[in-house]
Amino acid sequence: MHASILARQIPRASVVAVADAFEDTAASVAAELQVAAMSVDELLASPQIDAIAICTPSPTHVELIIRAAEVGKAVFCEKPLSTDIGEVDRALAAVERSGTPFMVGFNRRFDPGHRSVQRAVQSGAVGDVQLARITSRDPALPPPGYVEGSGGIFVDMTIHDFDMARFVVGSPVVAVFATGAVLIDPAIGAAGDIDTAVVVLTHANGAITTIDNSRQAVYGYDQRVEVMGSKGMATSDNVAKDNGRLFTADGARGANLQHFFLERYRESFVNEWEAFIDYVADGGPSPVPGSAGRAPVVIGQAAWQSVREGRTITVEQG
Ligand SMILES: NC(=O)c1ccc[n+]([C@@H]2O[C@H](COP(=O)([O-])OP(=O)(O)OC[C@H]3O[C@@H](n4cnc5c(N)ncnc54)[C@H](O)[C@@H]3O)[C@@H](O)[C@H]2O)c1
Repeated sequence: MHASILARQIPRASVVAVADAFEDTAASVAAELQVAAMSVDELLASPQIDAIAICTPSPTHVELIIRAAEVGKAVFCEKPLSTDIGEVDRALAAVERSGTPFMVGFNRRFDPGHRSVQRAVQSGAVGDVQLARITSRDPALPPPGYVEGSGGIFVDMTIHDFDMARFVVGSPVVAVFATGAVLIDPAIGAAGDIDTAVVVLTHANGAITTIDNSRQAVYGYDQRVEVMGSKGMATSDNVAKDNGRLFTADGARGANLQHFFLERYRESFVNEWEAFIDYVADGGPSPVPGSAGRAPVVIGQAAWQSVREGRTITVEQG
């Protein structure tokens, strides 16, 4: 999906190429998009490639970041940078050493609705922030086997909400309380994960964020963000498949929510890519720097510790 957006969005790039651990996959995606297929080694060695987008499974990110940084490629990397904070630091140290442009894939920052909440807070329109509320519920369970290696719900899924909380409140997180349960799929529990969770974050400015997550909301992909402060409230609501409504004597009906992230956040992925391309081409600060990729992993690990120990965990650099 990233490659398809990229292929359409980068007129300035001299070569767009797809690499995959499976040669056949790379070849078929490349053919579909009419771009080149390369091995990872070829991609890293090619002088015609300026920037690399790492959209492989999370456990592979760190080595690929280090390899790309060492050969001076600009790097975009999907969340989470790693599920292990020591590994995140190893990757970020390589980026720092090379001085290469680096951006983390937190696409929701580029959603127009969520971004309008952040801008309302930043402009002062909401006043002093007191409460934030984020609902993030997937429509369907991940495929079998996905949970292993994902870092579990907090580092794989809630990580978006930790980033969103930091983004819209505009203040780092200093304490984390989390609770969770297996209410949907026993296989998730058997894999050592949970499928239902609530997290309470305390920010450095005193504001409190609550997050609720479900791996399966039968009515669709439920994505809501709200910030309340001394002067008002800013909200970003769900997006339905269309805005048509049917009114009858029995009541009113409307279209259901967009199915999942590829539909709901399509615009955010395009905006994210444009931001990455502009950043690589024009320089300036990273739209989502390494520190913004690190903090939600710190918060995610604290959330797991909170569930295990049943207490609030204080964090540094969260
Ligand atoms: N921003 C978002 O909303 C969002 C959504 C989904 C996934 N993600 C992230 O994207 C990443 C990929 O997730 P996915 O579910 O697409 O994974 P996936 O398992 O479908 O893998 C993606 C591709 O990477 C290839 N691959 C695996 N190891 C590789 C390697 N070492 N070198 C080259 N190619 C390799 C696979 O063959 C596959 O084609 C994860 O880090 C995930 O957290 C982000």
